[in-house]
Amino acid sequence: MKIAILPGDGIGAEIVAEAVKVLKALDLKFEMEQADVGGTAYDRHGHPLPEATLKLAQQADAVLFGAVGDWKYDKLERQFRPEQAILGLRKHLGLFANFRPAICYEQLTHASSLKPELVAGLDILIIRELTGDIYFGQPRGRRDAPDGAFAGQPEAFDTMRYTRPEVERIARVAFEAARQRGKRVTSVDKANVLETFQFWKDVVTEVHQDYPDVQLDHMYVDNAAMQLVKEPKKFDVLVTGNMFGDILSDEAAMLTGSIGMLPSASLNDKKQGLYEPSHGSAPDIAGKGIANPLATILSAAMMLRFSLAQPKAADRIESAVKKVLAQGLRTPDIYSAGTTKVGTREMGDAVLKALG
Ligand code: IPM
Ligand code: MG
Repeated sequence: MKIAILPGDGIGAEIVAEAVKVLKALDLKFEMEQADVGGTAYDRHGHPLPEATLKLAQQADAVLFGAVGDWKYDKLERQFRPEQAILGLRKHLGLFANFRPAICYEQLTHASSLKPELVAGLDILIIRELTGDIYFGQPRGRRDAPDGAFAGQPEAFDTMRYTRPEVERIARVAFEAARQRGKRVTSVDKANVLETFQFWKDVVTEVHQDYPDVQLDHMYVDNAAMQLVKEPKKFDVLVTGNMFGDILSDEAAMLTGSIGMLPSASLNDKKQGLYEPSHGSAPDIAGKGIANPLATILSAAMMLRFSLAQPKAADRIESAVKKVLAQGLRTPDIYSAGTTKVGTREMGDAVLKALG
């Protein structure tokens, strides 16, 4: 088994180092190889996703990814910006199924900006389609408007599109995932306005016939955004397209009050996966040793479970994380009075110790 380690930018290096430390302590036989990605790779090799990095990711069974992005690259031509690295990896590896759990840990209930009773015990799973939609739809670009009230004026455009197989496979992923949990799927669309999402809704409804044991309902995306803050616990699995999933998964993550705790997985049809924390590169705190490594450590656990067939090792990591929370250890992002503030490395060491 081979793991590609891609720390990336900002706090990426610090948090990935802690996850690697934990992985090494497991005494499992896998090979780890590191490569540059994102702005770091642009600085060193002139491209955010160098050929060698892509090749390593393609050959690996799993990719452990930190984060990419820094404001200092905002002025670069789009193809050279750090974000292109993650988009390129998703596309080239065919990582169409993105799992973004939003779990509210018991000890962190008060970190949420919502009332504790609304989020206590929250456990929802957002499944975001990751390789289609307006993110990748062609054509896109700039031109002079060919028609409309402002014909002849400069305009920009992107294309929202989904093929049937793309919707079908992500729907199956959602129904299968729901079977392992609360057996309810909410498909989020904008079928009242968009042709693409009427089609989405139709296909999801059809696929549902193969999963009579799972309850399906449909919700417009604006309403879903509202319900997520009104009554988040009524959701089990939420499945949606790339664009809506990007937005709703940030919203859901924030409900937990601790985005620094949330892992994510992006899988292809061969169960090859990219695992990354749900939070970003946080350049404002990079290098200070205060970033929360737990989302990355939990991403490594997801990796062991989904791509490396090591569920026991995954359990061990997850229990260790719960243990350090119970011990009262907190990085600044989840700190509250009466707990013990620790830095990135101390938190990693504590998880290591808690592994037993
Ligand atoms: C995410 C991020 C990415 C996205 C960016 C960095 C391209 O926001 O993973 O949610 O929009 O998908
Ligand atoms: Mg996002």
